[in-house]
Amino acid sequence: MKDLRIMSVFGTRPEAIKMAPLVKELAAREGITSICCVTAQHREMLDSVLAVFDLKPDWDLDIMTPRQTLSTITSKCLLGMDEAIDTLKPDMILVHGDTSTTFAGALSAFYHQVPVGHVEAGLRTYDKYSPFPEEMNRKLVTAIADLYFCPTENNRRNLERENVAGQMFVTGNTVIDALKTTVRKDYHFTTEILNRLPYGSKKILLVTCHRRENYGQPMEDIMSALAEIARTHGDVELVYPVHLSPVVQECAHRHLDGIGNVHLIDPLAADEMHNLMARCYLVLTDSGGLQEEAPALGKPVLVLRRETERPEAVAAGTVKLAGVDKGEILSLAHRLITDPAAYAAMAHAVNPYGDGEACRRIADAILWHFGRGEKPEDFHA
Ligand code: UD1
Ligand code: UDP
Repeated sequence: MKDLRIMSVFGTRPEAIKMAPLVKELAAREGITSICCVTAQHREMLDSVLAVFDLKPDWDLDIMTPRQTLSTITSKCLLGMDEAIDTLKPDMILVHGDTSTTFAGALSAFYHQVPVGHVEAGLRTYDKYSPFPEEMNRKLVTAIADLYFCPTENNRRNLERENVAGQMFVTGNTVIDALKTTVRKDYHFTTEILNRLPYGSKKILLVTCHRRENYGQPMEDIMSALAEIARTHGDVELVYPVHLSPVVQECAHRHLDGIGNVHLIDPLAADEMHNLMARCYLVLTDSGGLQEEAPALGKPVLVLRRETERPEAVAAGTVKLAGVDKGEILSLAHRLITDPAAYAAMAHAVNPYGDGEACRRIADAILWHFGRGEKPEDFHA
C-alpha cells in the first residue's frame, strides 16, 4: 500500500511549537510520509522553534516582511501554497489554530481539493473582533476542514452547536506533548540572565503581550500597569521576552526601559521559555499558548484580555481574566503578590488541556480516516 502523504503547514511561533511534536509523530508512523511546509509568517521566531525541535522543513515560503498586514500575509501564503501543493502532492493538509497562515493554508488546500485536518479546532469567543483576526480565522477554517482535532470536550461541543458535519476527535492539545519534551528539573539556561534570577528570594513575574486587538490604548494601559507593579513591589523581578513585532517593541521599551527590576529580553527559545515558566511565580499574558502551558506547570495566570477562548483553566481556578483596565490589572496582581492564601488558591497544577498523548491520537485518527487502523479514544480531562 502507498504511504499517505500528510503535509503539515504552519508559519508562526505558537503553531510551530504545537505542530512540531505532531510532525515527528507522523514521521515515526508506518504508512505515513510526513511533509513539513512552513510559510515563515514569522522568520526568526519560527526558526528558533525549528532549531529546538530539530525540524527541517521540506518547503519554505519565506513570506515575512516587517510590519506585514493581514492581506499581505494571506495573499503571499495563497500564492506560495499553489506550487508547494502541486509539487508535494499531499493526501491531506494539516493546519493549526487560528493565524493568517492557518486560514490561507486551509483555503489553498480547498482550492486544490485536498482534505484538511484542523488541529486545535473548536475554540471560540463568539466575538468576531476579539481576538482579531483569530476568531474569524477559526470559523473560516471550520467551514473548510474535514477532520477536527479538538483539544477539549468543550471545544467539540462548540462545533456540535454549529452543526459541523465532519469527523471530530477530542485529542488534548499538542502543546502538552511539547511541554513534556522541554521541561527538565535540572535544566540549565543558555540565556545567561535566566540562570542568575533570584528564584528563591524574589517573586519572578513572567510577562508576554502581543495581540493585535490590544494595539493602541489597551497595550498602553497594560504596559503602564506592568511598570507600576514593578515600581511598587520591590520583591518582584519582572521578566518580559518582548515579541519582535515593532508595534510591541516600541510600546514595551517606552514604558519599561530603565526600571531596575524589569528585564526586557529577546524572545526566548521554546525550551528556555517553558523552563522559565516552570520556575516563575506568576504569569501575566495575552498569549493563548501560555494560558494552556502555565496551568500544567501549576503557575497562576492573569490574562491581559477582555475574553478568552480557553475557559477550562478559568473554571479550574488557575487562570483569571484580568482584562485590559489598568486599575483591575494592578489590583489582581497586587493581591497575588501580597496575599499567600489568594496565591495558593490559584497555584495548583491542572491538566484540562491534555495528557501529552494528543499527537498519538491525531495520527491514529488520520490513519483511521483513511481506513488504516483503529479509531483513537477521546481525551478526558
Ligand atoms: C501572529 C498571529 C497571532 C499569533 C502570533 C503569535 C496572525 C494574524 N497573527 O501575530 O494569531 O498569536 O503570531 O506570536 O496570524 N516579526 C519579526 N520576526 C519574527 C516574527 C515577527 O520581525 O520572527 C515582526 C515582523 O515585523 C512582523 C510583525 O512582527 O511583520 C508581526 O508579525 P505577524 O505574524 O504579522 O503578527 P503577530 O502579532 O506576530
Ligand atoms: N514562547 C516562546 N518564547 C517567548 C514567548 C513565548 O517560546 O519568548 C512560546 C510559549 O511558551 C508558547 C508559545 O510561544 O508555547 C505562545 O506563542 P505566542 O504567545 O506568540 O502566541 P499565541 O499562543 O498567543 O498565539
